[in-house]
Amino acid sequence: MNRQSHTDEPGGTSLDLATVRSLFPCLQQQIHGNPLVYLDSAATTQKPISVLEAMDGYYREYCSNIHRGIHTLSERATAKYEDVRNKVAALLRAPDPRSVVFTSGTTEAINLVARTIGRERVGSGDEVLISAMEHHANIVPWQMLCEEQGATLRVIPCSDEGDLILDDLVDLISEKTRIVAIGHVSNAIGTVNDIKRIIHSAREMGALTVVDAAQSVPHMNIDVEDLGCDFLAFSGHKVYGPTGSGVLWGRLELLEAMKPWQGGGDMIRTVSFEKTTYADVPLKFEAGTPDIAAVIGLGAALDFVNEIGLDAIYAHEKELLDEAVAKLDQVSGVQIVGRPNQRASSISFVLDGVHPHDVGTILDQKGVAVRAGHHCAMPLMKRFGLVATIRASFGVYSESEDVDSLVEAIDEVKVIFR
Ligand code: ALA
Repeated sequence: MNRQSHTDEPGGTSLDLATVRSLFPCLQQQIHGNPLVYLDSAATTQKPISVLEAMDGYYREYCSNIHRGIHTLSERATAKYEDVRNKVAALLRAPDPRSVVFTSGTTEAINLVARTIGRERVGSGDEVLISAMEHHANIVPWQMLCEEQGATLRVIPCSDEGDLILDDLVDLISEKTRIVAIGHVSNAIGTVNDIKRIIHSAREMGALTVVDAAQSVPHMNIDVEDLGCDFLAFSGHKVYGPTGSGVLWGRLELLEAMKPWQGGGDMIRTVSFEKTTYADVPLKFEAGTPDIAAVIGLGAALDFVNEIGLDAIYAHEKELLDEAVAKLDQVSGVQIVGRPNQRASSISFVLDGVHPHDVGTILDQKGVAVRAGHHCAMPLMKRFGLVATIRASFGVYSESEDVDSLVEAIDEVKVIFR
């Protein structure tokens, strides 16, 4: 396989792929005797050396707990950790870093909202609105909340093309709607949803809005003020950072009014057996020792992303996605699932007569890593009459040769199952 790197110049941006790829140690390996073709970045991205070094540096040079110590190492760790809060606020164009809460990931962030302000705002007879293409992390916490509170979960439907049907939004969002929780980009089929329109309609009816941005933050610029949402969640590990790091951004006035959800060290101001008073936001929501190394690694990941620029990343990935759709369309027996108006990150498809798990297993033998299954979006699979798809998902280091390798490997699957 030709692994020569080239310089992309999509949309006037330039991305030196050879250099970018050289920064990712995990990409430099063979799988079953073939060069690794990593097409599973929607599950987790590979990590650049700078992220590995930042975490290693914390453990080797200033390993200590944060917010507690008065010694030098603790002060260094605290400063590094808090500086990542500033970086996240800048990434999201959030005016105040205190509105950034560190969590273990998107799932924890959404559960935090559901179990705090969700319990306060949603009561018997109320409604929570999600969409047909949500990841389970943006379904189950709301379903649990609705069951607990006697509320109803409603769903924005999805078209055959894989776009949300927003024509009936006025009927779906009423004065009963307390929360609207929407994924920005579908992890399963790659649809970029018109969340600004949904948020606008929700706010007009006084509903809180929660954005699952796990699949958008790695691929495009986000501006929480411009979106107008109340909460937004993402995971560090999908944006070149470590597992165990994640973010809940919330409007400061809402976070300040919310009760804490987990009790423990670091989230308190004073504790007595009679009464505990709580720390200010964001620490009120960060009980116990956090994953300090992961947060510091996330900071290095955001530096990496900023250095390239999300406009350049988006343009590069869009070019690859367009190329992949065009090439997969040429492969007989391949059916792409969803043809959304705007796509980011992922393409899902099925191969006639072969179970997606079999396709995924054989692709792995060729060194091609994809995800096969329901992608934690079982209701969306059902909507398309499927139990599973094969998903190829892209990152900044993905290249045109990856698409060719995928297509070649699918051709080999077809030979095996002929
Ligand atoms: N949510 C991740 C995915 O879509 C794990 O693969």
